[in-house]
Amino acid sequence: MKTVLQHILRRKRDFARRPLFEYLRDQRLSPQDRLAFYPCMAPFILSFGDLNRYVLRVEPTDDPHLLMINQHTYEDDHHWPWYLEDFAKLGHDAAAVPPGETLRFLWSDATVHSRLLSTRLAHLVWSAAPSVRLAIVEAIEETGNVLFSLTSKLAETIQQETGVELRYCGEFHFERESGHAMNNDHAELAAIALDPALRDDAIARVDQVFVLFSDWTDELHRYAMDRLAERWAQAS
Ligand SMILES: [Fe+2]
Ligand SMILES: [Fe+2]
Repeated sequence: MKTVLQHILRRKRDFARRPLFEYLRDQRLSPQDRLAFYPCMAPFILSFGDLNRYVLRVEPTDDPHLLMINQHTYEDDHHWPWYLEDFAKLGHDAAAVPPGETLRFLWSDATVHSRLLSTRLAHLVWSAAPSVRLAIVEAIEETGNVLFSLTSKLAETIQQETGVELRYCGEFHFERESGHAMNNDHAELAAIALDPALRDDAIARVDQVFVLFSDWTDELHRYAMDRLAERWAQAS
């Protein structure tokens, strides 16, 4: 598994250069503008609890790797309500949008990657051996680590300026994310022996995870840019 973990870290470094993350680092924009992608991530973030509960969690099981994944799912399956909490705190609940319009947005072309991401991940997970599933979870966690390390800095600034604590975007959530598939411990993961076929399969699926998350973050970036353009057009 060590080779696979090294591969994940290489992919993570490339992933951290996606346009969304450059945008989140752009000091010329306010923290609120940098978080303009927030509504677009709803379909994936709200389905992430189900992905943990009904896709990644397999019970009962004696398989040591599935047991590790199960343990992980009990941490990550209840973070999505914090997303809705920040959704309101960022002002999105204030918009008087009819429920039908909200549904139209959630099923629009603007959110297609956000909608399909959990389905695509479920496909990757269900067809994989337990040890390979661990690699998939690890890759997913590392994509989250890139995103939330940046949003937590923005949340900190917003809290200093407004007194509002964003729990999903900020430290509160980030501290509860080990960034790893289990207990913050790379060593235990690295010690798992994979035969060449499993190792190759794990690397191929990790690559897929990063492709899927890249498509997703590019969609979030496009959405944020469109909101900014709209706002600037209204202001001029
Ligand atoms: Fe989480
Ligand atoms: Fe997580």
